[in-house]
Amino acid sequence: MSPSAKNLIIDNGDGDEPMSNHSNNRHFDEVLNAHLSRRTALKGSLGASIAALFGGVGLAGCATTAGSAGGKLVGFEAVAIGSADTVVVPKGYKVQTFIPWGTPISGNMPAFDPMKNTGADQGNQMGSHHDGMHFFPIEGKDPYQGSSTEGLLVMNHEYVEPRYMHASAVGQKLSRDAVPALVNGKRPADECRKEINGHGVSVVHVKKGANGQWGVVNSKFNRRITGATPMAINGPVRGTDFVKTKYSTDGTRTRGTLNNCAHGVTPWNTYMMSEENWAGYFINKVGASGRTREQSRYGVRSNDSKPATSRYGWELADSGADEFARFDVSAKGADASQDYRNEANAFGWMVEVDPFNPESTPIKRTALGRFAHEGVVFAKAVEGQPVVCYSGDDANDEYIYKFVSKGVYRKAAGLANGALLDEGTLFVAKFNDDGSGVWLPLVFGQGPLTPFRFNSQADVLVNTRLAADTVGATKMDRPEWGAIDPKNGQVYFTLTNNSGRTATDKANPREKSRWGHIIRWAEAGNDPAATKFNWNIFLLAGPENDSQFAGKPLNKDQMHNSPDGLWFDNDGRLWIQTDISESSMNKGDYAQFGNNQMLCADPRTNELKRFLVGPLGQEITGVITTPDGKTMFVNVQHPGATTSADDFAAGKLTGTWPNQGRYARSATIVITKEDGGVIGT
Ligand code: FEO
Ligand code: CA
Ligand code: CA
Ligand code: CA
Repeated sequence: MSPSAKNLIIDNGDGDEPMSNHSNNRHFDEVLNAHLSRRTALKGSLGASIAALFGGVGLAGCATTAGSAGGKLVGFEAVAIGSADTVVVPKGYKVQTFIPWGTPISGNMPAFDPMKNTGADQGNQMGSHHDGMHFFPIEGKDPYQGSSTEGLLVMNHEYVEPRYMHASAVGQKLSRDAVPALVNGKRPADECRKEINGHGVSVVHVKKGANGQWGVVNSKFNRRITGATPMAINGPVRGTDFVKTKYSTDGTRTRGTLNNCAHGVTPWNTYMMSEENWAGYFINKVGASGRTREQSRYGVRSNDSKPATSRYGWELADSGADEFARFDVSAKGADASQDYRNEANAFGWMVEVDPFNPESTPIKRTALGRFAHEGVVFAKAVEGQPVVCYSGDDANDEYIYKFVSKGVYRKAAGLANGALLDEGTLFVAKFNDDGSGVWLPLVFGQGPLTPFRFNSQADVLVNTRLAADTVGATKMDRPEWGAIDPKNGQVYFTLTNNSGRTATDKANPREKSRWGHIIRWAEAGNDPAATKFNWNIFLLAGPENDSQFAGKPLNKDQMHNSPDGLWFDNDGRLWIQTDISESSMNKGDYAQFGNNQMLCADPRTNELKRFLVGPLGQEITGVITTPDGKTMFVNVQHPGATTSADDFAAGKLTGTWPNQGRYARSATIVITKEDGGVIGT
């Protein structure tokens, strides 16, 4: 359900002088090197800062980087591209399938049976479509330090596949997005509730057993947050007219979080859920031109949409209950306190929750902007300095943002640091063709964000995309995950692809970008709060004849397409996960890439190898290790999604991984090394 992008590198690892021929967009690293070298020579302080930022990075071309285990960071034997209905990992590694969709974790622990489970049952089971996740060590003090055998695994559930959820679906011709046929124009309310409860986040207490297998602990921490959980609205939008509804006439609360894709982890040990492709969950029953700008710029549906319902038609629930009717955002009452015309304005945010307090109310942090948040990644927190985080807006030609808090981080403040996310400056990135970049502030009253176009900072934030358009941000090829190199603070972002790209620029160099790329930058002075940066393309994904990494085409052990998930482990390995869309995978030009996969790179040595290939129909998304690096959790989302509507009706399934029950199920896999070593070595 989402789009993607790609990019280029400054330091190609050999320290050579750059090429001077800038005419070929394929050779971006060289172009970038050329620009940067010239600027270093000519441009005084900015040039000096570039040299400081990138000098030494990637110049140790032949060096290997020692990890926590003391050996090569990327030491495994690459796995081949594949298209089997199974998970393949390198020799010497093993895989446990863990907590698939429907696993009971809380309440009365209802056993999984999609033909019988109710909506309430789903609210006590693992949600579907596992995505971004984090392992919080059980001590609850630091997100990256503590136990490596017990903790809270917290994960997003991006969406659901209704045909696999309901007995009523059996025998119907249903595609992966379809819901069972309406009955008298309505949907059974409990099917809607089940789908809503299949969304959101799971907090699961997990522990490694004596036999090395991981299990779920029946624990007070276990919690489901869903598309219906009460949440607070904080930050500049709180209490404004934009978010006043029948449910919250003072505009301080809403219900649920939806389409949570990648995640974020704060320095104070809380979890951030993103709201990515939320707009389609709502419908305004007017023509497209009758929608508010808060709706139209994000793609909230209208009567001109086909079909003229929300994505899953929850507004059509036969009970007519308020919890479902709210997805119809038409103006119906005398004012906003009597209807849900503003309901969609409460979505599109980053949402913070304390996973160690099952009673805590998730908080929508509106200062971080409203868009299709893929996720959020925090720069290393420094005592007495502002908190900085980055977030991509995953849609064709959308932007990359950075938030800098007004207040400063104090470790001793603990959870109270969350308030830092309510006040600060949201910036959007402009990537110049010369390899420099600037962060443009989205502040009401500054630059073009005047009363002529906006009325308040809340207006700027609810309409973040419009504000970013107005200041002249660079349209990117679908920004997905961001990751920060723990060794030098450089920021990497995947740009997964962009079928809509017509006008190229140096940061988005391909027309109709099909394969995606990864861009990276260094902030001026290595200060995350800086307003200038220097960037290059780390790799151009694609087949051997149309790709580039460290000055060479990707080889057969490196070939991939549509990079999406991205994460640096503590040792500095960069893990890259792919999301070729279900409509393309294993077809035509895309068949050469096989099933979606995960690769591992060492940006200092420019090694890159395929580590994992997933089963049929899925994307690989979400990765984290225990603090010792010896257990890795990876998510496998939407296996079986390539089963056609006709085949579904005939009971002929393309992919049934993990072969637990009637249908394929999203699940986590736990990867360990047979010799007990660090993952990746
Ligand atoms: Fe949900 Fe942008 O991937
Ligand atoms: Ca996807
Ligand atoms: Ca994603
Ligand atoms: Ca994606």
